Amino acid sequence: MRVLAKLDGTLLDADTPLIRVDDLGITRGDGVFETILVVDGKPREMGPHLDRLARSAAMLELPPPVRADWERCAQVVLDNWSGGAEMALKLIYTRGPEFGDGTPTGYALGLAIGEKVLRARSTGVAAVTLDRGYDPEIVARAPWLLLGAKSLSYAVNMAALRHAETVGAEEVVFVAADGSVLEGPTSTVVVVTGRTLLTTPPSSGILPGTTQGALFRAAERAGWATKVEPLTVSQLQEADGLFMASSVRKITRVHTLDGVALPDTTALHQELIALYESEY
Ligand SMILES: Cc1ncc(COP(=O)(O)O)c(C=O)c1O
Repeated sequence: MRVLAKLDGTLLDADTPLIRVDDLGITRGDGVFETILVVDGKPREMGPHLDRLARSAAMLELPPPVRADWERCAQVVLDNWSGGAEMALKLIYTRGPEFGDGTPTGYALGLAIGEKVLRARSTGVAAVTLDRGYDPEIVARAPWLLLGAKSLSYAVNMAALRHAETVGAEEVVFVAADGSVLEGPTSTVVVVTGRTLLTTPPSSGILPGTTQGALFRAAERAGWATKVEPLTVSQLQEADGLFMASSVRKITRVHTLDGVALPDTTALHQELIALYESEY
């Protein structure tokens, strides 16, 4: 099932053409997006997702998204969903048609969660480390690279996942030129050592994850320590647990890294999932 609403709140048949062929979101990937998990009609981390949409839009110098408009069009999708307990709610915001009047294109789209994601949630994934091709010191110096924006230009991220599949893995951990760990193509790296949760800093050009944020919030309340600091690949290999967090994937266990089996984290995974779910 798919449910589609335009930014003005109009509900559309999801099979109706909506995007103009010269929309810069299509012809140049010039736009931003968010994917939000909805469970039993309730969007998770809606505020942080809308904050991040605004931050990404600012980085691309798009007109500031009007929060009330996005909340309204998301609500239209929520109100018209009858496709099961969970939904992936996508918010898409592009620079609009190249030969238009400058009005951005915006819509919300409700989709079912894919089979692959559901499988990964329960079985865990094998991951490979892949070069992302930049040094974190460039992030502040070259804002036009849009590192850390959730832009529609995700072709590189998808190519990395396809490459992982060619070597028998389902997930990627991007690594910077200085050897520091970045993020997954669509997820945040979370490492567990003892009773401490660690993740990598947004200053390294990664997206601040809303799922990681929710998990860390819950963990801190339950007495865990949390750290946001640069990590090395050997820290991932030596950790008590390695996980990838994202809205639709929730917290997925990495059982193998670069072909080497990691410690069995079945119990730890259950504990982290319980912490994360306690937020809702
Ligand atoms: C590059 C990247 N990093 C991290 C994440 C995880 O973010 P969130 O937990 O907010 O879904 C995503 C989400 O798709 C992503 O695309």
